[in-house]
Amino acid sequence: MSSGGNSSPVHLLRGGMVGLGMIFEETYRPFFEHARAQGFYDPRFGACHVHLAAVASRTGRRAERYLRERSQQLGRFQSFTEPDSVGQMLQQAPVDFVCVATPDDRHYEAACKVLQAGKHLLVEKPSVLSLQQLDHLTQLARQHGVLAKVVYHKLLDPDHKKLRTLVVQGELKHVNHGYCSLLEPKQISSQQFAEWIQGRNPGTYVAVHYIKLIDFTFPGRLKAVLCSGQRGLVGPPDGNTWDSTQLRLVYQYDDRREAAFDIHTSWVTPDNFPGYVEQEVQFRFDNGVWNGHSRKRGVELTIEGQTPLQKKITLNNHYNATFIEPWGEESQRGYGIEVLERFVREVAYVEFGGPDSQRQQRLEQMQSLDYNDLAADRQVVAAVQAMEAILEQAAAGHPDAVVYVDHPRGGLVLFRPGDPEPHVLYEPRVRP
Ligand SMILES: NC(=O)c1ccc[n+]([C@@H]2O[C@H](COP(=O)([O-])OP(=O)(O)OC[C@H]3O[C@@H](n4cnc5c(N)ncnc54)[C@H](O)[C@@H]3O)[C@@H](O)[C@H]2O)c1
Repeated sequence: MSSGGNSSPVHLLRGGMVGLGMIFEETYRPFFEHARAQGFYDPRFGACHVHLAAVASRTGRRAERYLRERSQQLGRFQSFTEPDSVGQMLQQAPVDFVCVATPDDRHYEAACKVLQAGKHLLVEKPSVLSLQQLDHLTQLARQHGVLAKVVYHKLLDPDHKKLRTLVVQGELKHVNHGYCSLLEPKQISSQQFAEWIQGRNPGTYVAVHYIKLIDFTFPGRLKAVLCSGQRGLVGPPDGNTWDSTQLRLVYQYDDRREAAFDIHTSWVTPDNFPGYVEQEVQFRFDNGVWNGHSRKRGVELTIEGQTPLQKKITLNNHYNATFIEPWGEESQRGYGIEVLERFVREVAYVEFGGPDSQRQQRLEQMQSLDYNDLAADRQVVAAVQAMEAILEQAAAGHPDAVVYVDHPRGGLVLFRPGDPEPHVLYEPRVRP
């Protein structure tokens, strides 16, 4: 939507939001508040205002609270609740793009509706849980001429950008193997996600950050997926809810050399652990080593009676933090918010970045950005689908399965020890 004089129109993008949970509070709320106050400018499309126009959630309780307590900053928005909160929102509210931040096994249904309604889509990670779902969403996005993107904020972390820059520039040569770990505090599994944790695992939810980092930074052919895990804290030791997982991905490169990556995740780390989320990466190359540690970025804070529970000892001020800027303004910013702004800028460029006759070219240009386009998420979703299938087999009494990617028997093929018959999880090729 555009308004204003012919020479310098002021554009408007109206956002819809599905899910008002933890991540809304942490990143989307500050994003929408900042966007409402300041808008965006880009020489290609001029000035653009962004409003949160509508939200869809299960009960609407948090929406009411935001309307009560933060309407000054967020503006007033329409609130839709279950049943069919998303369908109602799309029918009744004027939105141009929609962000989906529901629990990960509820992304697909909402995302389908958004794309079918011809709205641009931004979905939280992991985008979806199977390649079948991904195929359908990418096909809908093409059919309706809109963007379908996924949030991987770790790609915007300055440390990860530097790692990739060194790889792209050829300074770090040929990755050989790597190790990543992300450990969430117990309160995530016991309180924050207690409602939907049954039957879930921390790998899908958090390892996916590193799956994408690896897939994007060291692009090669995903060849095999293995996964083990532990149970007994969040659920029974023989149940299907996992405390921690260890995922292994094997990639092959054009020169036929391989690299293996281990990704360890958990959501049962003690709450009084000094770092909010323990994150560590190590990558070994032919000629180098990259070691990164979230708690060793340099800051250690102690405040009597507050750290490490209310406040964390080791802060990540790069991801998302509140500040008083040197010029006096109160702000909240970091790469967790910047990644949302990038998406909205991409939407604005498609809609307002030139004449209507060239919209398709602009759309294709933005769709070719493989850091966030759903069409470029194939190997990540393949790894997630394989991991979920391996854990499901283990919970059903068939541990140690392996999934091969683009195997002669199919795109994703699961083998169980002692069972000569493979299980085809996905028939077409994963890498076209
Ligand atoms: N980018 C990140 O680092 C990051 C961090 C945390 C969470 N996430 C992702 O964000 C998503 C949400 O996580 P969260 O931590 O905010 O979860 P949460 O449980 O705090 O919130 C989920 C929200 O979804 C709503 N909801 C549930 N089912 C719904 C439905 N069928 N229709 C409409 N609304 C529904 C709930 O009412 C709630 O508002 C997940 O996909 C998660 O992986 C990303």
